[in-house]
Amino acid sequence: MADHIHPIFDRLLQRADRERRLGQRSKVVWLTGLSGSGKSTIAQHLERRLYNEGFFAQVLDGDNIRHGINNNLGFSEADRRENIRRIAEIAKLYAHSGIITINSFISPTRAIRQMAREIIGSDDFVEVFINAPLEVCEARDVKGLYEKARAGLIRGFTGIDDPYEPPPAPALEVNTAQLNIEESVELIFEYLLPLIAIKDTDN
Ligand code: ADX
Repeated sequence: MADHIHPIFDRLLQRADRERRLGQRSKVVWLTGLSGSGKSTIAQHLERRLYNEGFFAQVLDGDNIRHGINNNLGFSEADRRENIRRIAEIAKLYAHSGIITINSFISPTRAIRQMAREIIGSDDFVEVFINAPLEVCEARDVKGLYEKARAGLIRGFTGIDDPYEPPPAPALEVNTAQLNIEESVELIFEYLLPLIAIKDTDN
């Protein structure tokens, strides 16, 4: 009799099946920090590093999210929240398909990051604080936006006239005023490796 029973869950592909196929455990790496702290650069180098080591990872950042699915959102508190809510849902879909995402968004408040953590699930959410003092980010001013914010041409700019709340207990903190890009990426990679590697004893 049992031979003729084919419960539906036998046919559903599980996350673990996909992870086995890809040879990795998926995680959501969540980089938070001020504009100009180095999130995007680190995300891109980390993506490349993971790729070179045989992992599948995808950067989610303003280029592919704020210009695409979230192009109707600005920088009000409600829009930032909705920005992060959608990104967290997308990252969760990736995680369930076995793919690591590296999320590079200011995600300025504890409440916003807590929402992301709850959507994604604590086990998968790896919070990394990309920390550089405001003065350093402002001196770099890669996009010229701090100057505009100081001149009053941009209102509600994070760190100037909008809050940034540092995470009190991130999984990892990377101080980009002290570490160079290679050192920063290495720190995150070494932290991630045991979390994403499939061990020989796993099946
Ligand atoms: S978040 O607050 O919703 O997480 P997100 O990371 O997507 O922000 O976008 C931040 C980027 O948008 C900044 O690096 C900067 O280039 C640009 N930007 C434009 N306006 C603002 C603003 N008012 N505050 C912060 N960043 C802004």
